[in-house]
Amino acid sequence: MRVIIKADYQQCSKWAADYVSYKINRSHPNSTHPFVLGLPTGSTPLGMYQELITQNKQGKVSFEHVATFNMDEYIGLPPEHPQSYHYFMKENFFKHINIQAKNIHLLNGMTRDYEKECNDYEAAIRKLGGVDLFIGGIGTDGHIAFNEPGSSLSSRTRIKTLRYDTIKSNARFFNGDITKVPHTTLTVGIGTIMDAAEVMIMATGRNKAEAIKHGIEGSISHMWPISILQMHQHGIIVCDEEAASMLAADTIKYFKEIENHAS
Ligand code: PGA
Repeated sequence: MRVIIKADYQQCSKWAADYVSYKINRSHPNSTHPFVLGLPTGSTPLGMYQELITQNKQGKVSFEHVATFNMDEYIGLPPEHPQSYHYFMKENFFKHINIQAKNIHLLNGMTRDYEKECNDYEAAIRKLGGVDLFIGGIGTDGHIAFNEPGSSLSSRTRIKTLRYDTIKSNARFFNGDITKVPHTTLTVGIGTIMDAAEVMIMATGRNKAEAIKHGIEGSISHMWPISILQMHQHGIIVCDEEAASMLAADTIKYFKEIENHAS
């Protein structure tokens, strides 16, 4: 696992965006072989999206042959709902870049047939040859996508009921009104994420420190879903000093030294 520790949110966002651009450019995608990105919502990736928009406008990266699969969507929120992830992605990323609408994939939270929707999503990923780079955030409890603690570490795309802490945390996006937060979601599974050729997890702020500690120094456990990244051949954690603040001093020194030697 690579662990990139940067000073602050802005530096993490820049590092992540540079890495995404580098991977896209290096793969020379075309219409038959697009570069496939897995994408998150939430506050963590916003800075990365802004930087990617800038780089796209500057001609440093093109999304013309990039296909995307978002991690999750609330059940019962239509795409035009301001808190739906369809809306989030359109407003914060897609409408600002040269991506083709046909290449954008999000789970449909308005479907009546959850099982079919989830199976079709997995099939669509497979049809494009799998995800090249899955980007995610983490919850304070170590969840990735909406795979809460206790989720099967080999889970696939499915319906998930959120735990109270996540609902409470996400109420900040619903004017603080907990009753407005949907309790169920469709989410890719941990196995779906782990199938990607590469997985990059971003974490910033002191409230992510415990999850980062368990993810990097703890044992693999379904109680801290992030810890499964230890089993990935190409896992990267990008975090700021605050999110790294519960790691042992030796751990921080070790990963910083490796990166210094690499650059
Ligand atoms: P955040 O959410 O980026 O808004 O902190 C991350 C998550 O819950 O996965």
